[in-house]
Amino acid sequence: MFKFTEENVARIEASKKKYPTSRAAVMDALYIAQEQNGYISQEVMTEVASLLNIDTVDVLGVATFYTMYHKKPAGKFHIQVCTNVSCMLRGGYEILESVEKKLGIKENEVTNDGKYSIEEVECMGSCGTAPMLAINEDFYENLSKENLDQLLDKLN
Ligand code: FES
Repeated sequence: MFKFTEENVARIEASKKKYPTSRAAVMDALYIAQEQNGYISQEVMTEVASLLNIDTVDVLGVATFYTMYHKKPAGKFHIQVCTNVSCMLRGGYEILESVEKKLGIKENEVTNDGKYSIEEVECMGSCGTAPMLAINEDFYENLSKENLDQLLDKLN
């Protein structure tokens, strides 16, 4: 059963104080939950809802809307490849294919060692520097097959 650490409960309580309603702290709470648990499970959503005193369905709505929240276990390096219009027109699908080939997994899969996972995502707001991908919270833009290879080789 998922329980927040004392330290994380304190962080969420501090976050609640920043907003007029505790509901507004749901994104912060989910972020902290993902840091602790690695992904947002049903149990995590129930615990977040209980701490914020809101309905679980409200937590679910936020967790499923934003791609930054993982709904299933992700790799240590979670790679989100954008294939929305700007990225697609500038080779987003080729980038996705190259990442899949290099790591030996398909989109929505995690490598056996738990190191890498891949997700195809919608626009991440970096259209002007398409194609792009994110590795955990860092964006990598103006990708080409060459600089992609170097980028993936550097991950440890
Ligand atoms: S279309 Fe890829 S970042 Fe906007």
